[in-house]
Amino acid sequence: MSLEFELQKYPKEIKLKDGSKCKLRPLKKADEQAFHQFFLAVPEPERMFIKHRVVDPEVIQEWCRNIDLHRNLPLLALIDGKIIAVATLHQQSGGWKRHIGRVSVLVLPDYRGRGLARSLVTEMVDLARNIGLDKVEAEFIGEQDAAIKMFAMLGFSNLVRLEDYVRDMQAITHDYVLMGLNLKTDEEYAGME
Ligand SMILES: CC(C)(COP(=O)(O)OP(=O)(O)OC[C@H]1O[C@@H](n2cnc3c(N)ncnc32)[C@H](O)[C@@H]1OP(=O)(O)O)[C@@H](O)C(=O)NCCC(=O)NCCS
Repeated sequence: MSLEFELQKYPKEIKLKDGSKCKLRPLKKADEQAFHQFFLAVPEPERMFIKHRVVDPEVIQEWCRNIDLHRNLPLLALIDGKIIAVATLHQQSGGWKRHIGRVSVLVLPDYRGRGLARSLVTEMVDLARNIGLDKVEAEFIGEQDAAIKMFAMLGFSNLVRLEDYVRDMQAITHDYVLMGLNLKTDEEYAGME
């Protein structure tokens, strides 16, 4: 199925564990300020988990002004118009990794523990499968225990752990963890030969 077809599902409302409702929809150009505010609300120590310098307004400006959902699909979760979480599906349009999507997720601290990350990642995995990707992967810093456990619960397995491989903004090294999930069954692979 095409991505355009899949995107027709949004906006979509989901119910969280505590009964509250939130809206899911892809990032739009007009979200620039709200998206920057979202990243500013992420506690400083956690920002090292994010690969990009998201406190810099120019980074968010660049993302919002050059939206290409086929490459980066940020799916926002909003309550009363406020962005409270984002999950992104990253794709390579060509090359070795064109069959592999990369998923990331970030939930603001006040909204954690309500099943939001689980819903967002499940949404992204379903979407990746529906648009024909073979695999999804997720990258972590070794200290992201909660996230690593959550992805494991959703069926992702550890592919690799490299000791002291990445460096944060303070130049401190951390382990790098790559997890992955196959989206195709063995029968489907056999049918492709
Ligand atoms: C990790 C993170 C995404 C979890 O978000 P969340 O919305 O609180 O997660 P959920 O409520 O959907 O929890 C899903 C499962 O993970 C587990 N989990 C979540 N946070 C946990 C924690 N701090 N410690 C242990 N387990 C945890 C829960 O047990 C839950 O399982 P359950 O549904 O059986 O109860 C959130 O803490 C976060 O944004 N962290 C910083 C960014 C990050 O690490 N992103 C991942 C990089 S890709």
